[in-house]
Amino acid sequence: MSKELSGKTVSGFSKLSKRGKLKWIVNNFFKDPEGVMKELTGYWFQDEDNQKIIDGLSENTISNFVLPFSVAPNFIINSREYAIPMVIEESSVVAAASHAAKYWSTRGGIHARVISTVKEGSVYFFWHGDFSLLTAGLSGLDLRIRNACSQLTSRMEARGGGITKIEFVDMGHEEAGYKKLNIHFDTCNSMGANFINSILEQSSEVLREWFDEQGFINEQDGDLEIIMSILTNYTPQCLVEAWVECPVEDLTDIADMKAETFARRFYKAVRIATVDPYRATTHNKGIFNGVDAVVLATGNDFRAIEACGHAYAARTGQYQSLSTCIIENGRFRFSLTVPLALGTVGGLTNLHPMARRSLELLGQPTSEELMKIVAATGLVQNFAAVRSLVTTGIQKGHMRMHFQNILWQLNVSPDEEAAVTEYFKDKTISYAAVRSYLEQLRSPTNPVNES
Ligand code: MEV
Repeated sequence: MSKELSGKTVSGFSKLSKRGKLKWIVNNFFKDPEGVMKELTGYWFQDEDNQKIIDGLSENTISNFVLPFSVAPNFIINSREYAIPMVIEESSVVAAASHAAKYWSTRGGIHARVISTVKEGSVYFFWHGDFSLLTAGLSGLDLRIRNACSQLTSRMEARGGGITKIEFVDMGHEEAGYKKLNIHFDTCNSMGANFINSILEQSSEVLREWFDEQGFINEQDGDLEIIMSILTNYTPQCLVEAWVECPVEDLTDIADMKAETFARRFYKAVRIATVDPYRATTHNKGIFNGVDAVVLATGNDFRAIEACGHAYAARTGQYQSLSTCIIENGRFRFSLTVPLALGTVGGLTNLHPMARRSLELLGQPTSEELMKIVAATGLVQNFAAVRSLVTTGIQKGHMRMHFQNILWQLNVSPDEEAAVTEYFKDKTISYAAVRSYLEQLRSPTNPVNES
């Protein structure tokens, strides 16, 4: 064993009981094992059934990591009212979303439409033969795949979904011999990852048999080497648009700025995010503040959504803003087009007790409705951020929201809180400024503290 290692590795950890795992961890990695044990078990749910569900979502669980579950009310999307569940740890995101949603609620609300709902996956393989042989035989293979997968697809087909298209794609221009068997899916209200991956794995077996039978494997063309079969999280054809619009003159009540000035500055800010990846990344991060918070609250896969969104933002070869602003004929239109492969049945959506409540709060949406809700949240989040940036700057509002966290970190008593709040009513808030003011307050030379 290397000298730097201190023997804190273990075999059979996964076989220990939950309490046993926690005990081993606290004894080996913490200075106050008893205290930490008490603290981490304190985060376990009292309801054992709920705790079992959460533990079942991952492996080696020893405690729960809690994030705030918030609600942003006053969303009107396609003339329907919503209160949006959001799980996020960053102050001012939910306040900004609520504020912007309310702003647009008196200007026609938020509009949204689903453009397409195609999900895809591929059997990735290498073969050096003539690509036209594959396309010529595709209809026969298509039928065989559908037959071989009928047990897997029957329930989805009963709900109106299933395999919608099978095609070969020649990728030889990227890598010699590289080809894909690409399959398109309609997964109805489910995200459908397991459904898609099961079909792809089954299809790869059918592909191999078909290749053998067709005599495609020979000395000249080489073997068929199937590398992998997996869905793609890049779903540019699972796309939704959300937008807000109004006459420019209706853009009132924005700081002390005239409507025309605000519209022009807002438009330019979005243009900057369109042409400059440095700004586009932060601009899109603001969009995903809203998107991820709802995706997480509804038990969807935020890593898949993020990966896809950023790949889509770079689809032209340059990373760009996902939102667009147009000012035409005196009208302001701000829109967000984003790929969102979401589900409202299956997976975590029905398993996680809070995800179930989120979906109930949203009125049990279909996956298409959820796509619109999530896009609408991303849009108003983006509107709120850019609005602040081109008017007051974000720090004022952000630090005001962060104020409570600073007070908490500095162990401020209720009496001190009143004094600090009053003092910072019209001053710039920062951790250092609050600490320095507290030091003055607490100083023995402060006349208030003299006995
Ligand atoms: C902070 O989490 C998000 C913003 O930086 C987004 C933006 O700059 O547009 C405020």
